[in-house]
Amino acid sequence: VEIRPYREADFADVAALWQEAFPDDPPRNEPTRDVARKLGVQPELFLVAVDRGRVIGTVMAGDDGHRGWVHRVAVAASHRRRGLGSVLMRAAEALLAERGCPKVNLQVRAPNPAAVAFYERLGFRVEERVSMGKVLASGGE
Ligand SMILES: CC(C)(COP(=O)(O)OP(=O)(O)OC[C@H]1O[C@@H](n2cnc3c(N)ncnc32)[C@H](O)[C@@H]1OP(=O)(O)O)[C@@H](O)C(=O)NCCC(=O)NCCS
Repeated sequence: VEIRPYREADFADVAALWQEAFPDDPPRNEPTRDVARKLGVQPELFLVAVDRGRVIGTVMAGDDGHRGWVHRVAVAASHRRRGLGSVLMRAAEALLAERGCPKVNLQVRAPNPAAVAFYERLGFRVEERVSMGKVLASGGE
């Protein structure tokens, strides 16, 4: 399995993977828009895992100038529990660290105890914060 930056030809695999991994996503995360935006902002931080030519994992990281963030962490159900999610996360963390990010944050839409267990294994801790958000883009909800 190869870990490398996303390429345009990966789109169909990525969209299918996200549909499987994030069935309850809001429409603002529609893959065409989501990927297009990322290609305009730090595209080198959007990584995929490829097995025999097929994308079976993703992580979309970003450096906002203060912290690193990760989104869209997904591994195909057929490939889970083989360490691939961990490899993707460590690769994203290494890129963020290289850029000087002192910390990486992420959000888990509750309840997702499997994701929490996964991130805890990677050294993340649940922090006492109130997560707030506001939709900006028209049609964002
Ligand atoms: C979360 C996800 C990315 C994990 O990917 P993965 O490749 O299976 O993860 P790994 O094999 O690297 O797991 C490493 C460790 O994390 C923990 N872990 C992973 N999946 C777990 C689960 N479903 N339940 C409990 N612990 C889990 C285990 O400790 C595991 O080690 P082990 O297999 O030796 O027990 C994958 O399950 C997924 O895509 N889920 C759907 C999308 C999602 O919820 N993403 C997170 C959104 S915030």
